[in-house]
Amino acid sequence: MQEVRGVIARGKGAPVELTTIRVPDPGPGEAVVRVQTCGVCHTDLHYREGGINDDFPFLLGHEAAGIVETVGNGVTDVAPGDFVILNWRAVCGTCRACLRGRPWYCFNTHNAAQPMTLTDGTPLAPALGIGAFVEKTLVHAGQCTKVDPAARPAAAGLLGCGVMAGIGAAINTGQVGRGDSVAVIGCGGVGDGAVAGARLAGASKIIAVDTDPRKLEWAKGFGATHTVNAKETDPVAAIQALTGGFGADVVIEAVGRPETYRQAFYARDLAGTVVLVGVPTPEMTLELPLLDVFGRGGALKSSWYGDCLPSRDFPLLIDLYQQGRLDLDAFVTEEIPLDGIEAAFAKMHSGDVLRSVVVL
Ligand SMILES: NC(=O)c1ccc[n+]([C@@H]2O[C@H](COP(=O)([O-])OP(=O)(O)OC[C@H]3O[C@@H](n4cnc5c(N)ncnc54)[C@H](O)[C@@H]3O)[C@@H](O)[C@H]2O)c1
Ligand SMILES: [Zn+2]
Ligand SMILES: [Zn+2]
Repeated sequence: MQEVRGVIARGKGAPVELTTIRVPDPGPGEAVVRVQTCGVCHTDLHYREGGINDDFPFLLGHEAAGIVETVGNGVTDVAPGDFVILNWRAVCGTCRACLRGRPWYCFNTHNAAQPMTLTDGTPLAPALGIGAFVEKTLVHAGQCTKVDPAARPAAAGLLGCGVMAGIGAAINTGQVGRGDSVAVIGCGGVGDGAVAGARLAGASKIIAVDTDPRKLEWAKGFGATHTVNAKETDPVAAIQALTGGFGADVVIEAVGRPETYRQAFYARDLAGTVVLVGVPTPEMTLELPLLDVFGRGGALKSSWYGDCLPSRDFPLLIDLYQQGRLDLDAFVTEEIPLDGIEAAFAKMHSGDVLRSVVVL
């Protein structure tokens, strides 16, 4: 066991706290990772606000890169000294999804068996089974994906959640293909990941929609060919006007609200695809005319973690990053210390950042 500093959310809406965390030595199948960097994702804020569940206290943070420090018995895929991106999809290989050859839907992903705790023994619920706003974290070894150690940790770690979710929402879930028109509603880290993914997949038109002009400017850097300020213009009409009056082939919703989902639904072409990658909160509901659901055809899909397979997608995307084809550095707006997370939440709200990344 060792004691390290980490950031917890004690109760609904309360500011996060920097405190001492007890990290057990790794048991069978587990690894302790020295965290180098961890991005601040909107999902961390959802946790703090009680929007995910009530299992307080949470150990926040889950977009991380680091170095494996120690491994438990039976761990062969990673070893001390390996540079890894942490993932929240350590696939089991035996559930009904894995057995059907669809491991990106794995229903029984692995997390560490032992809990990290406060000094009084209170067990912590780690965000997305990771918990990485902490100097060292205990995870299942399958949550460690080895990538080229030459990659900058602050940029590489973002593939651990939001940027991967966005890229995968476009490429894996939305199946964006060459020549497709794509619209992305909400251009934070996740939405800009979707813009970058659509560009990698060969989309001919990429329409970025946000309410904040700075976000629209940044989205252009990732490949948006057109931008729509949803505060000034009706996004459905604007997307239709930019696509010959028809709507986009694939519309990706990266906000997680009923009104933006409705816009995505009506902004796609007939037989087009809507991908919901934004995460709604429990009280949200949506009503749509069933005849429109039928009559517009196509596919309404949700994207959990961009339907990614970390062992396949992380090394591939790090290769593209190093070849200069995927600008992961541009997602890193600022590097902050471990006690800067509340300030980073405020900047996320005011739209000042794409990603604040804690550097330890
Ligand atoms: N599905 C997944 O696996 C997954 C993974 C990570 C994050 N997420 C979710 O994705 C969402 C986005 O995360 P993020 O980290 O990019 O958050 P963020 O806060 O950085 O970005 C949200 C963006 O939406 C914009 N926005 C807000 N209201 C809007 C509106 N009405 N119209 C258009 N744009 C609007 C904001 O200006 C902001 O740019 C969150 O709900 C997050 O929880 C999902
Ligand atoms: Zn499985
Ligand atoms: Zn996240």
